[in-house]
Amino acid sequence: MPKYTLQINGTSHTVESEPDTPLLYVLRDELELAGPKFGCGLSQCGACMVLIDGSATPSCVLPVSSSEDTEITTLEGLAKSPSQLHPVQQAFVDEQAAQCGYCLNGMVMATVGLLNVTPNPSLDEIKNGLERNLCRCSAHSRIIKAVQKASKNL
Ligand code: FES
Ligand code: FES
Repeated sequence: MPKYTLQINGTSHTVESEPDTPLLYVLRDELELAGPKFGCGLSQCGACMVLIDGSATPSCVLPVSSSEDTEITTLEGLAKSPSQLHPVQQAFVDEQAAQCGYCLNGMVMATVGLLNVTPNPSLDEIKNGLERNLCRCSAHSRIIKAVQKASKNL
């Protein structure tokens, strides 16, 4: 199998995979980075989102062969230390912006991606920024409050 060198959370990892293996499988199964979740596997729910060069991207349909030469950030790479959460993570905790938590990885990564380009988003910009992320528990109002709080704390 071919080898690929991936830059993940500031560290270089070399993996052996078939070229069309989804990045999500490599992250979870080979590198034990369990932040990104498998939801639909079809790029429709957002549970698997990671940052690719700062932009929130579903990893379930992204081939590992297309992931070289990018900076990949997973949920595990956001916090500076276990005791110092990323401001977006802290805002989600403060607002208790989850029920089952399954969408949480994607919501947090999409929020970081949104705030990277729009630091002070309007309500409509938040809704548009998170429109690729589904929450089956309907925690939407708390999620929006968390995004608004995070935008003030970044
Ligand atoms: S698991 Fe990737 S978008 Fe649903
Ligand atoms: S909190 Fe359950 S899917 Fe969003």
